[in-house]
Amino acid sequence: MSDAPNPDPADTPPETEAPDRRSFLNVALAGCAGALGLSALYPLSRYVIPPEVVEAATNSVTLQIAAAEVPPNSGRIFRFGSDPGILIRTPDGEIRAFSALCTHLDCTVQYREDLAHIWCACHNGHYDLNGQNIAGPPPRPLARFTVNIQDDQIVISKEA
Ligand code: FES
Repeated sequence: MSDAPNPDPADTPPETEAPDRRSFLNVALAGCAGALGLSALYPLSRYVIPPEVVEAATNSVTLQIAAAEVPPNSGRIFRFGSDPGILIRTPDGEIRAFSALCTHLDCTVQYREDLAHIWCACHNGHYDLNGQNIAGPPPRPLARFTVNIQDDQIVISKEA
């Protein structure tokens, strides 16, 4: 004698309806899983591959500080478009400006009053007052900008 329950034929669905319902549920579940996967992947892909930012080329900026506010043997960082620039006043009183992106690995350089020249803290790179690389790993001079002073306002522009 067997202990297995005897299936009641009324409880089992007819053979002809089961595949249709099952296949519909499979398609619906696959669609939901696909939509869920896409909704998770889309923001992830936008994060990994950010959209291209179109930026207008900056050729000139007017600084918010007056020339008289920059003492000899000092430097200040300013924004030149999306990049930093450095304005220096030499110990002799001449105002000069350069790109502040170190030519080694793009760290932002700074003016060292104690050394009286431009210095990069990342790997101890040194530039003289003409932006020439003089010590450390920087391979090239800093890009130099043109400085115009009009009514004590400092206008920095790219050299032509
Ligand atoms: Fe300036 Fe390396 S990034 S010295």
